[in-house]
Amino acid sequence: MEKFVLDADRLVTTRSPQTYQTIAVAPLTPVIGAEVAGLDLSQDLSDQQLSDIKSAFLAHHVLVFRDQKLTADEHKHFASYFGELRHRQLAELDGGDPAVLPVSADKDSQFVSGEDWHCDGTADAEPSLGSMLYVTRTPEIGSGGDTLFASMHMAYEVLSPPMKEFLSGLTAIHDGLIPWQGYAPPPEYVVPKSEHPVIVRHPETGRKLLFVNAGFTSHIVQLSREESRAILDLLFSLVKSPILSCRVRWTPGTLVFWDNRCTQHHAVWDYFPHSRYGERVTINGTRPQA
Ligand code: SIN
Repeated sequence: MEKFVLDADRLVTTRSPQTYQTIAVAPLTPVIGAEVAGLDLSQDLSDQQLSDIKSAFLAHHVLVFRDQKLTADEHKHFASYFGELRHRQLAELDGGDPAVLPVSADKDSQFVSGEDWHCDGTADAEPSLGSMLYVTRTPEIGSGGDTLFASMHMAYEVLSPPMKEFLSGLTAIHDGLIPWQGYAPPPEYVVPKSEHPVIVRHPETGRKLLFVNAGFTSHIVQLSREESRAILDLLFSLVKSPILSCRVRWTPGTLVFWDNRCTQHHAVWDYFPHSRYGERVTINGTRPQA
């Protein structure tokens, strides 16, 4: 990874801290992530609270709210301030709430969701705006089960100018079969597949970012298979660079809200056979644009 250390002419520019009227925001790193204090998410938000949260979300991409006590309806109510809630395609099969995805692992788990670096649902034509994961149970051993989040703005910004130029204008296929890792999805599942630009702009800030991820991206359309594999492997390994990421350590009652349009995440499964439980609510997004 050393080759991605920035050259002097491409130093990371950190932004000045913003001021907020209703919340306290403590950045986790200068690049990504912040802890937000001063809110009870089970209550209705005032316009000023909502405006402060939205500003912090665009500035830090991942917001961590501690010590919350939420029912599923309160969780959904908080998420609905930011857009329409996404319904899970397979919810009818498990009979659960279509807007709430249980995220669970224990001694019987064969795998956990989100164990590799990925962005959620990019095989969809309109991937999500973001998700809120509310964790109520953390591993009994007292540690483990952290989640890493990486900034795809920074992943773009650390690229050299010729590489940025090369990637802009390319498109990639995002294939919904990849996460099934060789298992057959249920016959009811309509496997999504979409083509998105490799470099896109954040729909609200206009800031550029790298938009390929190991969880869904199969190949770059304009390159040969071999070229595509080599470039994607390079970009996927760049995402693991520590300068891009923050690490969230969960405590019971923590809700994390991430911007799925400009981040990737990785759930660390280092606590087997212990258990962890949370529920994720996802907000609809729009088609990524170059
Ligand atoms: C996910 O949404 O990918 C799961 C994240 C986590 O369990 O921390």
